[in-house]
Amino acid sequence: MSARPVPMRLLPDTSRIESDGSLSIGGCSVEELAQVHGTPLFVYDEEHLRSRCREAVSAFGVDRVIYASKAFLCSAMARLVDEEGLLIDVASGGEMFVAMHGGVAADRCVFHGNNKSLDELRMALTASAGTQERPGVRHIVVDSFDELDRLDHLNAEGLPTPRVMVRVTPGIHAHTHDYIATGQDDSKFGFNLANGDALKAVERVRRSSSAELIGVHCHIGSNVFAVESFARAAEAMASFSAPLDLPELTLGGGLGVAYTESEEAPTLSAWGSVLLDACRAHGVRSAISVEPGRSIVAGAAVTVYRVGTVKHIEGIRTYVSVDGGMSDNPRPVLYGSGYEAFSITDVAARRDLDVRVVGKHCESGDVLIFDGNLPGGVRVGDLVAMPVTGAYGHSMASNYNKIPRPAVVFVANGSARLVVRRETYEDLVRLDIA
Ligand code: LLP
Repeated sequence: MSARPVPMRLLPDTSRIESDGSLSIGGCSVEELAQVHGTPLFVYDEEHLRSRCREAVSAFGVDRVIYASKAFLCSAMARLVDEEGLLIDVASGGEMFVAMHGGVAADRCVFHGNNKSLDELRMALTASAGTQERPGVRHIVVDSFDELDRLDHLNAEGLPTPRVMVRVTPGIHAHTHDYIATGQDDSKFGFNLANGDALKAVERVRRSSSAELIGVHCHIGSNVFAVESFARAAEAMASFSAPLDLPELTLGGGLGVAYTESEEAPTLSAWGSVLLDACRAHGVRSAISVEPGRSIVAGAAVTVYRVGTVKHIEGIRTYVSVDGGMSDNPRPVLYGSGYEAFSITDVAARRDLDVRVVGKHCESGDVLIFDGNLPGGVRVGDLVAMPVTGAYGHSMASNYNKIPRPAVVFVANGSARLVVRRETYEDLVRLDIA
């Protein structure tokens, strides 16, 4: 690993090194934020979030970008993407509830999931924010024949007929971690293209009076860097969907982001060109939509931790323990994901100490950075940050070891607003009965 300072390109757009060497984001001192709100703390740069939303909308068009809220969702985030003209992909009743709690109209939500329950589907069909013409979400992305049976059941109950897309598994194995590859034939998601299930599903919906078919959908996986994988999926979907002559085609999310110094990822605009060019080249006339999650939010946030112990084992390694861990960022443990860390009070410092950054949970697997670097002078009490933690960190956070989940602040133009408060010990027992 290199001893170089953390690359500024991994930090949120409005990050600055102040004259005393410390970090500010959105004009706010990150050290002060940590003092006021405690640690661990997720700090999101609102300008960065809005700029990625705008880049996506300018690449794909108004109402053609559906933010995958699983990457990070709270009421303020739902409101922000809504203000920026994005639709919201919700993959559970809970995500739908939070999006609508944030003020998003049901007809700005797209409902996803490989195992939607009858209750969740009922919610999707009847949800209304008051002003929209017809009740229900904008459309449902149907994932299985069982789900089509459930829609028949709800239709028989007299519920409104939803617009649907059919999710297709195009048989493309994206270059990413197996846990987050979804486009290959061996997948729990969608209708298989190769064995004819996708066409059967399309035909069934076309004949059905309990759903109105508006298009087809695919999502080949997440954190994909290789634009060729996207181009191949777009081609496969283009040739499947062109003869169907449907108004819409959604090509999923999945654009990767750089987490570490050695990684480079395509921009949202470059991704847009690849997908739209591939569709045009294959004669697609449908409106093309995408569902980015990570590429909108990952780089917008840093997580700030306080160092609690520094343990040097001669001849083996140095462990730096921080006050969070796998409960606020399970990605290193789940996918072996790499991250960087740096001192927020001396951002440009050389990081000349090889370290393993670990959390405070009771297991050896609780690692945030397996082989990382920090400045040699790292001491107990220091504030360190990990960049690119805005996606699938807070959203996958847990209460393991009964550690309260961190607070989230949005910073912009010199002010910070708390958008998710830190959990308290009282929150830990709020569901306990007696
Ligand atoms: N659309 C669908 C149908 C999805 O399943 C997903 C992500 C997305 C869009 C957004 O993908 P993105 O643009 O964020 O890559 N927990 C894992 C990622 C799981 C992704 C699940 N689906 C991680 O931390 O890497």
